[in-house]
Amino acid sequence: MRHLINITDFSTGEIESILDLADQMLSHPEKYRESQRGRILATLFFEPSTRTRLSFESAMLSMGGSVLGFATADSSSTSKGESLTDTIHTVSCYCDIIAMRHPKEGAPLAGSLISEVPVINAGDGGHNHPTQTLTDLMTIRREKGRLDRLTVGMCGDLKFGRTVHSLIGAMSRYEGVDFVLISPPELRVPDYVTSRLRAEGIPYTEAESMESVMDRLDVLYMTRVQRERFFNEADYIRLKDTYILDTDKLRFARDDLSILHPLPRVNEISVKVDADPRAAYFKQVKNGRYVRMALITKLLEQA
Ligand code: CP
Repeated sequence: MRHLINITDFSTGEIESILDLADQMLSHPEKYRESQRGRILATLFFEPSTRTRLSFESAMLSMGGSVLGFATADSSSTSKGESLTDTIHTVSCYCDIIAMRHPKEGAPLAGSLISEVPVINAGDGGHNHPTQTLTDLMTIRREKGRLDRLTVGMCGDLKFGRTVHSLIGAMSRYEGVDFVLISPPELRVPDYVTSRLRAEGIPYTEAESMESVMDRLDVLYMTRVQRERFFNEADYIRLKDTYILDTDKLRFARDDLSILHPLPRVNEISVKVDADPRAAYFKQVKNGRYVRMALITKLLEQA
């Protein structure tokens, strides 16, 4: 039985077959309307979510399947002291596939060891978010026409931003990808991520100024400063407005730049940028539904 805990669980070929199926599902959703009839997805969210939980539920409902689950830990028996593994063991008796988000790194992996059905990591603490990465890859491929030979800027909270860690892991596999990591010193990418880039000879540079690197970028991946993962509020307040992408800063960017953001945004992208043809973050939201349809389909085929 296959699970998706880390994006590196899937080969490049497997990822591309999910992206191909997602593209087909986006173009012809009517062909898949009954494809998961009788199947049940459980969404177990121990942390808040708008896009991930609802896109998973929308994905399963769009294929004729059903959904059950909870959106907060306090509405489950976890609040009475039940262990995570007992919760997953129990829920896996009621469904065919589980998508779970948890504030503790490694919780979905622990769940997968006990589950009777495939488990999908829908975000674990500041660690990984592989289904956001599939969404990001689908969006980059649709916007740029390729996943190789790209200069990818990542900006903001690169320390706690789990989507950044997963996306670097996935894009490192493609030839000619160069990362530009833009953050204040306190929010740099963790060493376990950059040491792997160094070991594999993948080029990256670290920068503090967005403007100084803007003209090099094919893709700009903006991120929110992750308030919920800071140890003290004063540090969050000091760092939260370090980068705000506005129309003025975009004067330095290429005409074919693609701007992505996993969302939610707070104020790191001005709403005026939404009207810029380079803004791809709401297309990214839409793609998330189809890539999760494709992922559910592939995992259930192998279960
Ligand atoms: N991108 C993302 O994970 O959004 P949510 O937290 O709303 O699910």
